[in-house]
Amino acid sequence: MLTDKEKDDIHKEMNQYPYPEATCIDALKVVQYHRGWISDDAVEDIANELKMTVDEVDSVATFYTRIYRKPVGRNIILLCDGTSCLVMGYESVYEYISKKLNLKFGETTDDKRFTLLPVSCLGDCDHSPALMINDDHYNNLTVNKIDEILEKYL
Ligand code: FES
Repeated sequence: MLTDKEKDDIHKEMNQYPYPEATCIDALKVVQYHRGWISDDAVEDIANELKMTVDEVDSVATFYTRIYRKPVGRNIILLCDGTSCLVMGYESVYEYISKKLNLKFGETTDDKRFTLLPVSCLGDCDHSPALMINDDHYNNLTVNKIDEILEKYL
């Protein structure tokens, strides 16, 4: 069930669009802001609020990399595995992070500090390999830079 605050925030967004369904992404962002991720129940509640089907909302929720359909850690590492990053050494960065944090793509550390997710391109192709942690971009990555980067996110 959506909270009154979530409903208020969603309705503020709805006022900016001609149709309720145009608010779908914003509604997902509102709920994720309050809960950290989007559960199946939340998808259903958003669908009811926007007069959409559950499948329609779920198709939007699962299309976007930064809408999380499972619980995530406090910090989200989005590691680019796109073509440029692949060519420029993404695999060694992935292996280093994976070993250091004992994580594979889609997993969260036991202490909930990090979740590691793949992303297809971060727009940093000319400075690849690249990753994001939350809203911070890092590029020209080497394994030697990873420890210092991760230390910023306690
Ligand atoms: S392919 Fe990695 S930033 Fe574009």
